[in-house]
Amino acid sequence: MVEVLDVQYVAFGQPDLARAEAFFVDFGLLVQHRGDGEILFRGHSDIQYCYVAVKSERSGPLAIGMRVASLTMLERAAQYPEASPVEEIDRPGGGYRVRLSSPDGLLFDLVHGVAPVEPIPMRDPLVFNQAVRKERKGDWQRAPMEPAGVLRLGHVALLTANFRENADWLTSRLGMRASDLLFDGDPSNPVGGFFHCTGTGDWTDHHTIAFFPADAAAVHHVSFEVQDVDAQFLGNKYLVSKGWRPLWGVGRHILGSQIFDYWFDPAGNVVEHFTDGDLVKPGAQPSLHQVSDDSLAQWGPPLPVANFLDRRVV
Ligand SMILES: [Fe+2]
Repeated sequence: MVEVLDVQYVAFGQPDLARAEAFFVDFGLLVQHRGDGEILFRGHSDIQYCYVAVKSERSGPLAIGMRVASLTMLERAAQYPEASPVEEIDRPGGGYRVRLSSPDGLLFDLVHGVAPVEPIPMRDPLVFNQAVRKERKGDWQRAPMEPAGVLRLGHVALLTANFRENADWLTSRLGMRASDLLFDGDPSNPVGGFFHCTGTGDWTDHHTIAFFPADAAAVHHVSFEVQDVDAQFLGNKYLVSKGWRPLWGVGRHILGSQIFDYWFDPAGNVVEHFTDGDLVKPGAQPSLHQVSDDSLAQWGPPLPVANFLDRRVV
């Protein structure tokens, strides 16, 4: 059995690398390496790179990198009929990968052994004085207005017209499990869902891969974790000040509970900042939820679910 630990990176085609760099630096990523026709971006954690912008005429997803615990697990994955052999990764940090094509034709890179990097210091999370618990005494809240300081890539949300086959594939190939399932009218026929990793055997993000129903397969958005709620709001204000195009937020989701905001990158791909997401224990029983305009957010600007899925601004 292959059980992924977490998502590690995404690679996206970008027609204008300079403009992509301008956006992602304002978004809170840092340039780790400029290679031949691609730029690697990192967050502040020890992960070598979490976003790869590849010079390409066409914009859009090229691969989703998922981390596994051992070379043995990669060798096991290489036995799947849709898998490449184990390959060396020709990028800084090295490591090995096996490329798998999902039922919707998306490339999943299972990776192991990419060398970590030294984390980059960032401000501590803010301490909140709650009504019944005052923990900040004689100190002020003065988070700076700056890019939102991404720590890591946290999840990837996909659109699919074929949820069941993709869900079976995630479960059987990557060892992932559903945290919550979405239905539209008939609870026995789920049309989407949120999946967590089981590889650590410990508390893990409520979702690392999500599927939403659609007419055709696509990446809906990729989401990066930031330090806290003030990083989220100040990062939002910073991106507005730079003239980048928002999609939605700031708000708080229901399934996963993340505080979120969504942005269009210069090529029109959607990226999200999040903080304060739920954790689940691997293998926790999924709940069923009807898709509706009220199913997306506990609070935040109103946005109909159809507009969210179509990535249309109201
Ligand atoms: Fe998300």
